[in-house]
Amino acid sequence: MEFKQIYAEVLKPHIEGLEISQIQNLVEKPKKSEMGDLAFPCFQLAKQFRKAPQQIALELSEKISHPWFAKVEAVGPYVNVFLDSVAISTPVLKEIIQQGADYGANQDGNGRNVPFDLSSPNIAKPFSMGHLRSTVIGNSVANLADKNGYQSVRINYIGDWGTQFGKLIVAYKRWGNEAAISKNPIPELLKLYVRFHEEAETDPALEEEGRKAFKSLEDGDVEAVALWTKFRAESLKEFQRIYDLMGMKFDSFNGEAFYNDKMEPVIEMLEEKGLLEESQGAQVVQLDEYQYPPALIRKSDGATLYVTRDLASAFYRKNTYDFAKSLYVVGNEQSLHFAQLKAVLKKAGHDWADDMAHISFGMMLQNGKKMSTRKGRVILLEEVLQEAIDLAERLIEEKNPALENKQEVARQVGIGAVIFQDLKNYRTNDIEFSLEAMLNFDGETGPYLQYTHARCRSLLRKAGSVDLEATEQVNDPESWPILQLLADFPQIVRLAWKEYDPSKIARFALDLARAFNQYYAHVRILSEGKEQNARLQLVYSTATVLHEALRLLGMEAPEEM
Ligand code: ARG
Repeated sequence: MEFKQIYAEVLKPHIEGLEISQIQNLVEKPKKSEMGDLAFPCFQLAKQFRKAPQQIALELSEKISHPWFAKVEAVGPYVNVFLDSVAISTPVLKEIIQQGADYGANQDGNGRNVPFDLSSPNIAKPFSMGHLRSTVIGNSVANLADKNGYQSVRINYIGDWGTQFGKLIVAYKRWGNEAAISKNPIPELLKLYVRFHEEAETDPALEEEGRKAFKSLEDGDVEAVALWTKFRAESLKEFQRIYDLMGMKFDSFNGEAFYNDKMEPVIEMLEEKGLLEESQGAQVVQLDEYQYPPALIRKSDGATLYVTRDLASAFYRKNTYDFAKSLYVVGNEQSLHFAQLKAVLKKAGHDWADDMAHISFGMMLQNGKKMSTRKGRVILLEEVLQEAIDLAERLIEEKNPALENKQEVARQVGIGAVIFQDLKNYRTNDIEFSLEAMLNFDGETGPYLQYTHARCRSLLRKAGSVDLEATEQVNDPESWPILQLLADFPQIVRLAWKEYDPSKIARFALDLARAFNQYYAHVRILSEGKEQNARLQLVYSTATVLHEALRLLGMEAPEEM
């Protein structure tokens, strides 16, 4: 139901020199809706037809017709088409009712795998706003991958390895309090980490001790491994509570440590290809030709690095998933890292690196400043989410005190508000975090969309029954903006995936909700006349597509709120 394509097909027999796709690319939306729904400019044809564009437009307008065209009109050099909303309403509703939640899906991906590297918080550190953004954006783009016929694989690449664990082990042995850590693991571990750095300023020997402790961890020392395992398990337990609140699931928690025994073959491969160079005792791959600084593969003490592990994980994903694309949803401060990662692989002749992409995003701000978790000033994300949920609960209490399962709905609304606040912005923009703004029921917010969906469902409940089998047409002119948006959804799904851009879905959902609320304000839907069933099919279709748009964003849509 791509109207531009249909128009191009209708024009094609009259335009020899151009392909359907070329014609389709020329079709525009007229500036004003009084001028029609589609416009075809004839300038390009002047040469071929040896006529003035105005003349060509006039002749074309007399030749073409289609059952869905209500009127064709030449306006200067343009051929304008007015679509017949009544005729179109029938196939639009039929398609959505038949396909249900599958409406808008396509098979472009042929079932090929797309691993997503997302969320990926660091052990013994708080779950930051950046990790929240990665979780929310990554989850939505992964949903879009599935909707476009790919098979997403959600990988939580936990930051569970690195020299900081040596420091933590030393700090724990010196000042650690087992009971306090079990009770409140991440803040306590963070405190230890901060104290280590404070004390190291006056006691430089600590650094060396930390390095040694990490070395013994790498060598598999029983005590060190036991401590690391404990820190990891305690942290994951905390992260899991956040994921549960958000309804977030992963296919794998293979983090950095998983690659400890998988780096050697990669280093050997670089060695064999003659790419490893000695630089001040360390081994690096030069990336001058890309204008990047060298990638540090192995330190002088033999320790491997972040990029070494990412090289190993890139190969592992290629071999395990034979991916169509491999995507990394990580903040834009790591752009250079991912550029270097790809460049090293390309330099080594692994052209599949072209299928790897860094889906970057901006910062979360509060009052214009970065929301930081550094220096022990911990903003516990769980508290932020809980606050959103509590605020949602108070609003529900105010607006609909009789609602059943208020707590569950409050969770859906609170979390939905946080997710939508993020995804309505283009991802590389910095975004401002404000609980009050994101929970406004009338603004461009998650609750507004959920409320509109619940309004549709409530209309359907009130009606008692709707005949979904009947072939209907909607005669209200006010329905046209809704019908156009509904017909547009499959294309938006394609575009949002192509650009890894959930904000396209978010904008679409806002437009659809606004169009519906306009309709609701002007048309008596429950009229009990012969129009009622067609209107209810429209309501049903709107609810179906809105629900699906919200699902793609990672939001739930309560039946009632
Ligand atoms: N743990 C890292 C951090 O918090 C993010 C990991 C991103 N993924 C990756 N494959 N490097 O900064």
